[in-house]
Amino acid sequence: MLGKIQPSLRDLGLSSRPPGNKLPGYYHGALRDKGWIRGIEGDFNASALNNRVFTLATALQSRIISTLNMNKAPIHVAVTGAAGAIGYSILFRIASGEVFGPDQPIILHLVDIEPALPVLQGVILELEDVASPVLKGLVATADMNEGFRNISWALLIGSVPRKPGMERKDLLAINGKIFTGQGQAIAKNAAKDVRILVVGNPCNTNCLIGMNNSDLPHDRWFAMTRLDENRAVAQLAKKSGADATAISNLAIWGNHSPTMYPDFYNAKIGGKPVTEVITDENWLKTEFVTTVAQRGTAVMNARKASSAASAANAAIDTVKSIITPTKAGDWHSVCVESDGSYGIEKGLICSFPMRSDGKKLEIVQGLKIHPFSQEKINGTVAELQGEKAIATELGMLSK
Ligand code: LMR
Repeated sequence: MLGKIQPSLRDLGLSSRPPGNKLPGYYHGALRDKGWIRGIEGDFNASALNNRVFTLATALQSRIISTLNMNKAPIHVAVTGAAGAIGYSILFRIASGEVFGPDQPIILHLVDIEPALPVLQGVILELEDVASPVLKGLVATADMNEGFRNISWALLIGSVPRKPGMERKDLLAINGKIFTGQGQAIAKNAAKDVRILVVGNPCNTNCLIGMNNSDLPHDRWFAMTRLDENRAVAQLAKKSGADATAISNLAIWGNHSPTMYPDFYNAKIGGKPVTEVITDENWLKTEFVTTVAQRGTAVMNARKASSAASAANAAIDTVKSIITPTKAGDWHSVCVESDGSYGIEKGLICSFPMRSDGKKLEIVQGLKIHPFSQEKINGTVAELQGEKAIATELGMLSK
């Protein structure tokens, strides 16, 4: 009966404000509403929402969580670009417990640039209104050290979005430097088990930049092609009339860009090779590949903005497929550092077919690569090599 336990902060051995009352606002609505935090509503206004809006001291969080009888220690999860469109979709699904489990307490770190902090105020109010059973604290900040402190997951979504007419390469010069700083700040502040998923484009090379500017083990860094995989699954389902759940073994190779390659030769529909179910191989080689490749552009042209809800969904799918054992015989697409598998240059962040045992990811080995696929893979890998060369030239990677 949570409502009956109403310890004041003093009862918990903590004061309601930090010493000297220096922080602009200290707030946790759900706790306040239960009478656990008193007399601080006055601090919660737009002008108070400067660099740090509110936070709960770690000691307070752990005491309250133990009061709630949650067995697991909370994990800290950072989302950059938290005030943006993808952030708006992803935060609520994380807060629902869908991603890390219904019994895993979460402290969300909402990270964004200073001008976006007032918008975050509304997001925070709405997150509170979810009355989430797992969300046990929030940190909202534009300070990367604070944003990445103690985190076990970083979802790096924030970047300057692509505008109509721009390709991901155009974004490299603008966005690459964000990831230099973020790589360093994560290495300095995060928990020992931190894992990082880069979503902000050009995500493969941003990931490469972040990874090379941190001293974390390289197998902690991931970039996202699950959006392309999901798009490919949807197109195959539509064409074949099968349910999306019947599509398996669909790997995206290479870069998250129009050069990516959805390997339909190794994919299956209802356990059968795709080419046996969809016998129009020409459609697969042309319309199918092009539709998936151009989907981001099609969404952008229609919405006049980048895909957001589907990108958030794909980021969630990616995290889940990293932390959950993969179905027997299946695989998913994740961009990881190449170890030279399939002849792909070592060190590139490239999308491969990946399997997880729930803890570690591995590249699926021994797949037969059709000559058509090989040509496409060569093309997308060449683009990754080109982006790496540009990033090196820009001084974002050591030579
Ligand atoms: C997408 O694929 O839709 C996103 O990565 C957005 C973009 O810039 O294309």
